[in-house]
Amino acid sequence: MNTLLRQYRAGKQVSRYCIMFLLLIWSISQVYYGVPAQGMAQNVDEGIRRLIIKSLPEVDLIKNKDLKERVYKAWALTLSKGGYKRIEDMPTSMEPGSTPLKKGTRADIVCSMVRIALAFTKDMEDNLADFEADMDKVRAATLCYSLDTPEFKLVMGVDKQALSGTTHGQIARRADMAFWTMANFGCLLEGAGELSLPVEAPFVMWEKERKQVDETTRKGVIKSLPEATMLKDQELRERLYDAWAFSLSKSSFNRIEDMRGSGSPDSPALKQSTQADHIRAVARLAVAIAEEFEEHFGLRFNRDEVIAGGLLHDVGKPFEFDPENRKRWQANPRITGYPTMRHSVYGAYIALAVGLPERIAHIPGAHSREGQFIERSMVCEIIGQADHAYWDITDRAGLLQK
Ligand SMILES: [Fe+2]
Repeated sequence: MNTLLRQYRAGKQVSRYCIMFLLLIWSISQVYYGVPAQGMAQNVDEGIRRLIIKSLPEVDLIKNKDLKERVYKAWALTLSKGGYKRIEDMPTSMEPGSTPLKKGTRADIVCSMVRIALAFTKDMEDNLADFEADMDKVRAATLCYSLDTPEFKLVMGVDKQALSGTTHGQIARRADMAFWTMANFGCLLEGAGELSLPVEAPFVMWEKERKQVDETTRKGVIKSLPEATMLKDQELRERLYDAWAFSLSKSSFNRIEDMRGSGSPDSPALKQSTQADHIRAVARLAVAIAEEFEEHFGLRFNRDEVIAGGLLHDVGKPFEFDPENRKRWQANPRITGYPTMRHSVYGAYIALAVGLPERIAHIPGAHSREGQFIERSMVCEIIGQADHAYWDITDRAGLLQK
């Protein structure tokens, strides 16, 4: 009997130790993998904290105290894990072993991504009905986007893939993509040679003579695309209006707004905004990306090329979206093709037909999937980034019809 009692007590003791051990493991994992932990601030050494603020001043603008502390904690853990004193001591490559930047620090990269993310958010808040994004979460997600999974989870509670299903997660993802795409295309990575852009060179028009287009349709285009007034090159502006008027007049649509607001004829459309809203937004987001790299990384752009490229990237859509064309193509796809060609290819045709420069025609032609078969220009790549960012973010923000 006594032996049985002793065994029972010993068993109880072992179970108690097991439970305590499991509780300890659980507590450590909670702190490390991102469930809110109270009093986390005390864990970050004040000296390291000051250095992080100096490198990433945006952290201090996060209003939610818990979120802010978690960002500090994640960066402090990252520094101690790598044996770095400051964020500026860290490598500047996209991932371990990949090519680093020629100039600039890890802090410069993160700050740039945050500025891009905030520019996207601000533009969408100002121009998209019902768009909402938690600015604190946009900042936190973008500030931590380049961290390893455990530290990222510490801040956001989930990994990057799961977070990309949210508006703020998608904004951070697209800012990260825009940054590295531009670092690559702008020859900012080591060993990439120098980029000399003839940005001041005047545009060479493909055709000398302007094309006659329907005047009423053209007036509608001028109303639909107010961003075109930002173009300094008057000839470019007039031909941009010609291009849209010519494209619309060859379709069943009178105005850009008459087309459904979607990326392709079958993809989900914007609930409240129009195709014109999309086109205008792409031009503005592209300008925001270009300005970021001009101001902070010394790249040079022809601003007119960026604006015109943004406003013309979908100039071929009236053809691809036209219900009459689609009915014809659907009736006999083996004869006509379905569609006969996508808006990108048709857009390049429209641009050249109204005599726009080949450099501009390249943008509608290569901004989407068709561009993967050729080498895109840097401005075309920016437009592609802005275009995809727009659809991904509006999708996660719940602004597209299901
Ligand atoms: Fe587009």
